[in-house]
Amino acid sequence: MVIYFTGTGNSRFAAEKIAEITGDKLYDSALSLKDGTPMSFEDEDTLVFVCPIYVSTLPEPFERLIRRSTFKKNAKAYFFVTYAGSIGAAGRFSRNICKDKDLMYMGTTGVIMPQNYIAYFAMKTEEENRKIVETSLKDIQAAGEIIKLGQPFADCEDKISHYFIAKLSMPLFNRFYVNTKKFHVTDECIGCGKCARVCPLGNITMKDKIPVWGDKCTHCMGCINLCPKEAVEFGKSSLGKPRYHGPSV
Ligand SMILES: Cc1cc2nc3c(=O)[nH]c(=O)nc-3n(C[C@H](O)[C@H](O)[C@H](O)COP(=O)(O)O)c2cc1C
Ligand code: SF4
Ligand code: SF4
Repeated sequence: MVIYFTGTGNSRFAAEKIAEITGDKLYDSALSLKDGTPMSFEDEDTLVFVCPIYVSTLPEPFERLIRRSTFKKNAKAYFFVTYAGSIGAAGRFSRNICKDKDLMYMGTTGVIMPQNYIAYFAMKTEEENRKIVETSLKDIQAAGEIIKLGQPFADCEDKISHYFIAKLSMPLFNRFYVNTKKFHVTDECIGCGKCARVCPLGNITMKDKIPVWGDKCTHCMGCINLCPKEAVEFGKSSLGKPRYHGPSV
């Protein structure tokens, strides 16, 4: 079973490619996150968790969902992450999850994919992003082949400093950066509801054809990047920046 979390599609893209190679089924964690039910995969011998890196670790709602879900004891667990610059401390966090959940840790690896954090970072052009996605394919396929053979990943470099940076900065990040107060829509909004549909946490509701943000957000940047009219802004920091519309090759 390939279980993924995604904001703007990079991790779904990787998950789909891996599942194509391994012949596994795909599961979108948003189905569980939206209604708050834990996952239950007690018959699966192999689990592949695919997600983006947020602040050098796994997205908090995804990690919490894994921790309260049920899996077969000693099932093999692989972690494949997508990130814009560094894999951070993903290995250490993933290993800890496996220890606590009685899963057999098979390693963590990942690949550079386009930056989607439009709220705080510069965004690349469509052509630059297309090249990044094209380049990522080789590493995604290699990971898929290793999983298919049932072998462990050559584990990613594990810097203890990354682990402590992630541990210390995550609470600050959640408190001071992850807020929805700055999201707003411009007159370009056509009330199509796509922002509400793509939110993996079900944090957006449509009222009189206008999106309204709740307070259950993880800053995945799906709503702001995937709006077909580019009608969502985050304060002034997203003004004039190109949106990232998800992977294409
Ligand atoms: C809230 C947030 C935090 C991020 N933190 C990091 C990070 O610490 N390191 C990094 O290399 N990329 C970081 N990124 C970039 C994403 O990991 C990257 O764009 C990822 O491929 C997005 O995947 P998705 O399309 O599946 O959501 C961050 C993005 C967001 C939205
Ligand atoms: S996706 Fe964009 S256009 Fe559609 S409802 Fe949301 S903000 Fe409006
Ligand atoms: S509200 Fe927007 S940024 Fe927050 S989790 Fe939902 S889609 Fe992602």
